[in-house]
Amino acid sequence: MYRTHTCGELRIEDKGRQVTLAGWVQKARKLGGMTFIDLRDRYGITQLVVEADAPAALVDTATSLGREYVIQASGEVVERSAKNAKMPTGDIEIRLTDITVLNKSAVPPFTIEEESDGGEDLRMKYRYLDLRRPPLQRALNLRHKVAHEVRNYLDAKGFMEIETPYLIKSTPEGARDFVVPSRMNPGQFYALPQSPQTFKQLLMVAGYDRYFQIVRCFRDEDLRADRQPEFTQIDCEMSFVEQEDVLGTFEGMMRQLFKNVLGVDIPNPLPRMSWYDAMDQYGSDKPDVRFGMTIHEITPLVKGRGFAVLDDAAYVGAICVPGAAEYTRKQVDELTEWVKRPQVGAKGLIYIRVNADGSFKSSIDKFYGADDLRAIADAAGAQPGDLILVLCGARRKTQTMLGVLRLEMGSRLGLRNPQEFAPLWIVDFPLLEWDEETQRFYAMHHPFTAPKPEHEQWFYSNAKEDLERVCANAYDFVLNGSELGGGSIRIHNADMQKRMFEVLGIGPEEAEYKFGFIINAFQFGAPPHGGLAFGFDRVCALMGGQDTIRDYIAFPKNNQGRDVMIDSPSEIDASQLEELQIKLDVKSE
Ligand code: AMO
Repeated sequence: MYRTHTCGELRIEDKGRQVTLAGWVQKARKLGGMTFIDLRDRYGITQLVVEADAPAALVDTATSLGREYVIQASGEVVERSAKNAKMPTGDIEIRLTDITVLNKSAVPPFTIEEESDGGEDLRMKYRYLDLRRPPLQRALNLRHKVAHEVRNYLDAKGFMEIETPYLIKSTPEGARDFVVPSRMNPGQFYALPQSPQTFKQLLMVAGYDRYFQIVRCFRDEDLRADRQPEFTQIDCEMSFVEQEDVLGTFEGMMRQLFKNVLGVDIPNPLPRMSWYDAMDQYGSDKPDVRFGMTIHEITPLVKGRGFAVLDDAAYVGAICVPGAAEYTRKQVDELTEWVKRPQVGAKGLIYIRVNADGSFKSSIDKFYGADDLRAIADAAGAQPGDLILVLCGARRKTQTMLGVLRLEMGSRLGLRNPQEFAPLWIVDFPLLEWDEETQRFYAMHHPFTAPKPEHEQWFYSNAKEDLERVCANAYDFVLNGSELGGGSIRIHNADMQKRMFEVLGIGPEEAEYKFGFIINAFQFGAPPHGGLAFGFDRVCALMGGQDTIRDYIAFPKNNQGRDVMIDSPSEIDASQLEELQIKLDVKSE
């Protein structure tokens, strides 16, 4: 037996027991003739001690230990004279009678402790060492627990976990595909699934009316803190349901996750907000509702005072930053530069300071008198001591910029506490999105999403304004400004699906080529169905109080989509290429 206990297990009640532990040496240090060793495994750290008067061989072994050596150590549990209240095992130590070195270790390239001295790149390269650190162990443990709870909940609700293939054909999510060449079918490629969307719909046709899968998805898109090229979804689909059934089932799931994993109660029922309200008030389809500072339209209040910038603007909106009137000129200038960065894209920023005595100081004093400014302040809900920030331009674009500015001000004012959870559903998305550049509609969610039954007459109209008005039976689960999940009620009627392709400018041949199999299947009794998918990595990260999903994935990719540990992607052998009948024509940058 290698060990009687783990390194996180022993307490003062175990005093006097003979035990054997096995683990990694985090630190070994000599103090007044004694040697102290911190022994670590994934359960914790236990202090080992070799007394000054221990046999010479034991003292020699103890002093020869390097960081990350794997050892087995036996001895007696004794009470510590200097206790460490910060460690669960801090009341005891093991007075050693024996040490066996199970394996030596090269000197690790960074410290493997709660806080590491290693930079991100180095830690990614030695990910297996970084994974020994408690923060990563906590993250993966949380992920495990969440997965377990998801399975418990869905199993109890009659969902079946069914796997779907990875070597498939392009899916309708709209990102770039990762492709895999087929040796047996030269010149042909599989696409890796961006999601199991089409397969789960086929499972509904097949009669598996409650499906789920915790499944890997692959998307070749630009990476961000909350995006990885391969990520995991909790993917679900149900038959004979309406939107209400789907929302009820999955807010129940999230409620159970938060309760059983974190001990946190989230609201019952969850709040809902229409996409239109989210855009108008928060400038985002994934609003962070932990704080107010909502957007107020002030377009009618600013017209006709001779200020061309606002006179010409299609939309003028304001946010009111509480208590920020003391922002200095320099700070406002810095903020102006901030909104002008390409990531935000504003042309400029107007400010109105509401002084403590109720008077105003603004960057538009030349054009607007106290009454005008008061009307704006009232519309923005400003109090003395607040700072009003105004942007103008095209409606949705300006709202989006105000939304970004709002989040920034929320962060600066410390209003975005990661331990506070404010989930909600966003509903009533537009079905279609018009793209000016290509002069065509795109599906806002995906082309299998059904229009709201009450909007069907517009869906069959050919007028652009009508089509723009059609709402989808689609919904997103949003938490703290992050889209954790999304889904929709699907089209299950072949004629409606045909109409959808027509609206999207997907001709019959293209539809047949891309989605023929599902259109065919729909001819054989497709039940009404709908579902959704949660981004599992995002759910875990947010529950863990982080924005970055990387730590919640055992072996993630870096921002360039590389796995620097295994050095992938990499070139392949000429013989492999030959077998695949592929010739490379790589352009050097
Ligand atoms: P959607 O494309 O909205 O829907 O994806 C669902 C959820 O997956 C997460 N997600 C990601 N997480 C990490 N990295 C990525 N690159 C990434 N892309 C998406 C998000 C998102 O909300 N088939 C539909 C679902 C359905 O209609 O049932 C779909 O995939 O949290």
